[in-house]
Amino acid sequence: MTKIAYIPGDGIGPKVVELAKRVVEAAADIAGFRVEWVEAPAGDRVKEELGTPLPKESLKKILDADAVLKGPVGETARDVIVFLRRRLDLYANLRPFKTYPNVKTNWKNIDFIIVRENTEDLYKGVEDVGEDHAVSLLVITRRGSERIARTGFQIASRRRRKITIVHKANVLRSYGFFRDICIEVSEEFPEVDVEEMYVDNAAYQIIVNPWRFDVILTPNMFGDILSDEAAALIGSLGLTCSANIGERYGLFEPVHGSAPDIDPSQANPLGEILTASMMLEWLSERKSNRRMREASKIIRESVENLLSWGKILTPDLGGSSTADEVAEALIKIMRNKPF
Ligand code: NAI
Ligand code: MG
Repeated sequence: MTKIAYIPGDGIGPKVVELAKRVVEAAADIAGFRVEWVEAPAGDRVKEELGTPLPKESLKKILDADAVLKGPVGETARDVIVFLRRRLDLYANLRPFKTYPNVKTNWKNIDFIIVRENTEDLYKGVEDVGEDHAVSLLVITRRGSERIARTGFQIASRRRRKITIVHKANVLRSYGFFRDICIEVSEEFPEVDVEEMYVDNAAYQIIVNPWRFDVILTPNMFGDILSDEAAALIGSLGLTCSANIGERYGLFEPVHGSAPDIDPSQANPLGEILTASMMLEWLSERKSNRRMREASKIIRESVENLLSWGKILTPDLGGSSTADEVAEALIKIMRNKPF
C-alpha cells in the first residue's frame, strides 16, 4: 500500500492537513485504492515539547514513506523544511499559479509556473554571525544549476514552450554563472523559447504583464519571494500548492506559511488540498498507477467547480465559510452528491 508521511505543522497547518487527508481519502475511495498515513510531527510545537523541531523518529518516517504531505510550520521553517529540502535532495520546487473562474482578483487567465532551485543559493545554510558581523554565503554549483535547468526546460517543453531565466547577473557573478549554465542547457531544448530577465524587472512584469510568462526558472531565494507575489495574482496565498521533488523523494506543501494571524477554522484549506492533488499526480507517475492520476484529477476539477460555484468560500476569498465547510462541500462535489 502507498505510504504517505504527513507533517501537520503549526498554526493553520494541522487543520488544513487534516482536511486534505480527508479529501485524499474520499478521492482514493472513489478511484479505488487505499493509502496508509503515518504522522511525522515537526515544527514549533514539537520543538516546545521535545526540544527539537524535527525528531529523529519523524525523519525516519519521512525517509521510509512513498511521499510526504506537509503542512506549514512556523518559526522553525529553516530547521524543518529548508533542512528537509537539502537532506532529501529535493532540488526542484515547482509552484504553479493559475487563476480560477469566479475568484476575485484583478488578473484573469493567469497560467505560469515557477521552477525554483531548492537546495542552494543563500539558503544553503553556510552562515556565520558574530558580535559585529553576519555572513551568508551564496552558493551556486554547476550540478545544482544543470539539474534545475533541465527540469525547467522539460516542463516548458510540455507547456507553452517558453522559459524566462530570472537572475541578478548584473550585480552578482554567482547569478551570472547560474544564467550561463541555464543557457547552456537550453541548447538541449531547441523547441523552447528562452529569455532572461533581472529579478527586479521580473517582480514588475509579474504585476504588469504576467501573461508573458510560461515557466520562470530561478535560483532559490528569488523563487521564494516571487512565489508570494504570484500568489497575489490568483487571489489568495491560501490557493497555492507546490511540490518539492528530487530523484528519490517528493514532499508536497502549500506555498503559504502557518498564518498565525488567523484562526485555523478560517483558513483556506484549498492550497493544501491542491497540494495533495499534486502529490497524487506525482505518485501516479512513480508507481504507474492510473487510479491515483484519476484521484488527482477528481480533486483538481472539484476544486475548480467549487470555486466557480462561489457559494462556499473562506474569508480570504471574500466568503464566510469555515475550512471544514469548504472541505465538506468539496467532498460532496467529488461524490456528485446534491446539496
Ligand atoms: P503566511 O503565508 O503564513 O501568511 C501570509 C498572509 O497570508 C497572512 O495574512 C495569512 O493569514 C495569509 N494566509 C496564508 N495562508 C492562508 C490560508 N491557507 N488561508 C487564508 N489566509 C492565508 O506568511 P508569514 O506570516 O510570513 O509567516 C508565518 C509563519 O509561517 C512564519 O513563522 C514563517 O516562518 C512560516 N512559514 C513557513 C513556511 C513553510 O513551512 N514552508 C513557508 C512560509 C512561512
Ligand atoms: Mg516562502
